[in-house]
Amino acid sequence: MKKLIRDNVLKIEHYQPGLPLEVLKKELDLGREICNLASNENPLGPSPLAIDAVKKSLEDGHLYPDNSCIFLRDRIADHLGISPKTLCIGNGTTELIFLMGVAFLDPGDTFIISESSFIMAKIVAQVMDSRLIEVPLKEYRHDLDAILKTITSDTKIVYLDNPMNPIGTLITQDEVTEFMEKIPEDIVVAFDEAYYEYVNKDSYPNTLKYVEEGRNVIVFRTFSKLYGLAGLRVGYCAAKEDFTNAIQRVSPPFSVNRFAQIGAAAALEDKEHIRKTKEMNESGKRFLYENFDKMSVFYIPSETNFITIDVKKDTKRICEELQKSNVIVRPLTMYGKSTFLRVTIGTPEQNKRFIDAFKKSYQ
Ligand SMILES: Cc1ncc(COP(=O)(O)O)c(C=O)c1O
Repeated sequence: MKKLIRDNVLKIEHYQPGLPLEVLKKELDLGREICNLASNENPLGPSPLAIDAVKKSLEDGHLYPDNSCIFLRDRIADHLGISPKTLCIGNGTTELIFLMGVAFLDPGDTFIISESSFIMAKIVAQVMDSRLIEVPLKEYRHDLDAILKTITSDTKIVYLDNPMNPIGTLITQDEVTEFMEKIPEDIVVAFDEAYYEYVNKDSYPNTLKYVEEGRNVIVFRTFSKLYGLAGLRVGYCAAKEDFTNAIQRVSPPFSVNRFAQIGAAAALEDKEHIRKTKEMNESGKRFLYENFDKMSVFYIPSETNFITIDVKKDTKRICEELQKSNVIVRPLTMYGKSTFLRVTIGTPEQNKRFIDAFKKSYQ
């Protein structure tokens, strides 16, 4: 019998995202609001300007979107002060990371990531028959020295999510400068900056500079987090023109829908929504830190809209207890960390509900 499905595909572990609201509603107590702190979404919702713009555009739903996303690309280029030719828009960063793999990885190439990094890199490495190498973290951060030591002549891509998900930590400009000085020229360095807008540290690296210098760097960002448009699916990457052209070539036509393009362009201009989101995130973070301190719960200081904690015991029971109060967080079991939980920073009410429920389940 001829084998139909590729072995590589059969070996891929299913990606398990946080359960969607539609599923959660079936499983939880419907008499009470669901407090979903599992997927690092913006608890304030989408930018109101994006909602208005998308509503107005619904009547054009019968028209194909602009395949090159020219309007949105130009807005992002203005916003970042870079050439539109160095930008490629995708159906979320997830799609762009996948397309990067399709465009760059030959069978046998190695793709280096840190252990526990965002799962998409693993999937595409498997699809492309390339070898994934996971380098252990050092004190919950990317270990850049160990990554450099892992590089061989087969290495094609090094992927660094910064800040990293699901841990929330940063690598700094000084560290990245040294890394970029040492890394061989013929390797693509992919910086995934999905949480870029949340970072408040001066030491956060300016990776677009490497794109401008023509280095082999791809920078990924998204509208799913701070801009609150995870459901619309839109992200972008910045890289030199050869690279963005290559990614564009392997992209399915029309993968970024009309409403996503319009909503993202509007959200980019919504200064008020951005300000409120960042302020609420910072105060929520302080509130959660204070409570974790009072309860002596170990947490990893975060530069994102989530906090990862180590409850020092299996998280299954705690998650079940939280779920009884309609509070959902993300256990990190699939990242091999069975005592860790990742909690999205919510509204003040959501944070309080989480802490109240957590106190009961943690005892
Ligand atoms: C590091 C990282 N990259 C990418 C993504 C996915 O972003 P998008 O919604 O744009 O596909 C996430 C989502 O959680 C993430 O944490």
